[in-house]
Amino acid sequence: MRGILLAGGRGTRLYPATKVLSKQVLPVYDKPMIYYPLTTLMLAGIQEILVISTPQDLPVIRSLLGDGNHLGLKLSYEVQSMPNGIAEALIIGEQFLQREPSALVLGDNLHLMDRAREILGEAAKLQQGALLFAHQVPDPSRFGVVTFNQDEQVIDITEKPQQPLSDWAVTGLYFYDGSASERAKELSPSKRGELEITDLNRSYLSDSKGLLSVRKMSRSSMWMDLGTPDALHEAASHIARVQRLTGTKIGCIEEVALRQGFISADQLRSHAAGLESGEYSEYLSRLSTNA
Ligand code: TTP
Repeated sequence: MRGILLAGGRGTRLYPATKVLSKQVLPVYDKPMIYYPLTTLMLAGIQEILVISTPQDLPVIRSLLGDGNHLGLKLSYEVQSMPNGIAEALIIGEQFLQREPSALVLGDNLHLMDRAREILGEAAKLQQGALLFAHQVPDPSRFGVVTFNQDEQVIDITEKPQQPLSDWAVTGLYFYDGSASERAKELSPSKRGELEITDLNRSYLSDSKGLLSVRKMSRSSMWMDLGTPDALHEAASHIARVQRLTGTKIGCIEEVALRQGFISADQLRSHAAGLESGEYSEYLSRLSTNA
């Protein structure tokens, strides 16, 4: 399976922090935001990843992540010239995907789950249809909202409903079969002028109810859209607290690469030796020694 990390957008809700910087490179506690969704794809076992961003931000993101070799990844890059909607990622990525199944993650989404490797690894086996994740939220009208029947089958997905029929919001992580690019090309822009990811998801649902499944994330797991100052602040405090209490790191791309077997302990050691000395490189050196 191939992955797409969509990291463009306007970032208006974080202005002026985003006046000259992509929100996806802003720090969330001790790491750039984009590290977190990148680890989400890596935990699904995905190594070939296309990063999409704006013409201004792509060079910065490329200099941050490079070709991915140090992480055992193959990273490539494409520009989205205008923020024409999340579903456009599947059109921009058409050549890269080559009609293979794919996972799309949003560059400002934090997914923290128990048993992440197991759950995401299972999701990455998808061959047909679409698989989404949903999390309970107090303010569903801000999101795509899923309604389920008694057998937990999806009945409908509605974008930003005024009167939501459930409190299950669709998160920014989507697994699709090889038809996603074709389907995205058939979408028309919504009233706000975007190719809506909810419309792509609904296209699976309208073909056959069984083609779209939604996995509910447990309430002890965490999902956040990091696009507002409050979310950024809350996520940073949460990550700081967990890291302090456990002595481990969340969203550490090098650690995930090691645990997934994408790189060896020797590779990690030499990568860590090349970093600026400090707490992060010491953490990586320790990991490579204990591996
Ligand atoms: P949003 O948070 O919906 O939009 P935004 O990033 O432009 O922020 P704001 O609403 O504050 O102006 O986007 C969710 C994620 O998807 C985010 O990581 C940016 C990305 N995105 C794109 O890369 N291209 C797009 O066309 C859109 C709509 C979003």
